[in-house]
Amino acid sequence: MSNHVVLTGDRPTGCLHLGHYVGSLKNRISLQEKYDCFIMVADIQALSDNFDNPKKLAENITEVCKDYLSVGIDPQKCTIFIQSLVPELFELSTYYLNLISVSRLERNPTVKSELKQKSFSSSITAGFLAYPVSQTADITAFKGTLIPVGEDQLPLIEITNEIVRKFNKTYNTDVLLEAAPVLGKVQRLVGIDGKAKASKSLNNAIFLSDSSELIRQKIHSMYTDPSHIKVSDPGKVKGNVVFDYLDAFFDDKNELDSLKLQYKKGGLGDSVLKSILNDNLQNFLKPIREKRDSISDKVVFNILYEGSKIARKVAKETLSQVKDAMGLVYKYD
Ligand code: TRP
Repeated sequence: MSNHVVLTGDRPTGCLHLGHYVGSLKNRISLQEKYDCFIMVADIQALSDNFDNPKKLAENITEVCKDYLSVGIDPQKCTIFIQSLVPELFELSTYYLNLISVSRLERNPTVKSELKQKSFSSSITAGFLAYPVSQTADITAFKGTLIPVGEDQLPLIEITNEIVRKFNKTYNTDVLLEAAPVLGKVQRLVGIDGKAKASKSLNNAIFLSDSSELIRQKIHSMYTDPSHIKVSDPGKVKGNVVFDYLDAFFDDKNELDSLKLQYKKGGLGDSVLKSILNDNLQNFLKPIREKRDSISDKVVFNILYEGSKIARKVAKETLSQVKDAMGLVYKYD
């Protein structure tokens, strides 16, 4: 088992939130103790739907990296790097583009649902449609076999494995490895509005870097049970965002079960319930925020720069194996 390689990444479109934490960051923190880990800030992938705003991505690269460090991702154990500083990835993508059809890419449910949220005015760009191919390059360049991600990424890992099999079969090699997702215990953290998953673009998330006052306000505005009007009314636990968050973050499960019972029976008010969650999340996020505030940009740049050098070495080696397998080695002397 110990020869697994962990590879994952995030688009630098904004700061990371509690959904990222339960879906993927938490797993990374434990995986880094056992395996080689590569974590990329995927600026080029983010360009695929932010091509008109590269400045925003540049600014968020440091924010995302600070989020990593603040939750305990350790640059001594993980290689943290910037995707665009590893140009070998784009060469790999070019080779892989030949191994998948346009219709297969169009059938990808992740891309379909992202498209619904996004503003491609006339039609989808070739770059956006093909970002799963570039993600395949990300994973295979590092021989990633364990991919800690949220469940929305599963269709992308399927595409990765299809391309891996097609490559190995076409070029009669075993140079590329298939990858498996590692999902969080809570796979989809609901947004504070209760309507969809917590997401940067829907602005319904609690961010790791939120101030304690903002956390309090967000918890206060959380969707509960609209028919739970008086404290004595029986309330619903299912579909109640406060309980969803308590399920994800409240460690004392016995205590939580008794809160649920009490809420269902009637007699537990929303404001008391919300203050329990507030105490819980404030305690969890305070040390993260304090650590985050203590990290300078200079330290972050250094980690990303050094990490990118290491990542590039590894990707170069894979690229040369890939080109060998394809017979793309020309010697004229
Ligand atoms: N698609 C991922 C996201 O939107 C980011 C990502 C880029 C990634 N490359 C990756 C995830 C490789 C896992 C593996 O968050």
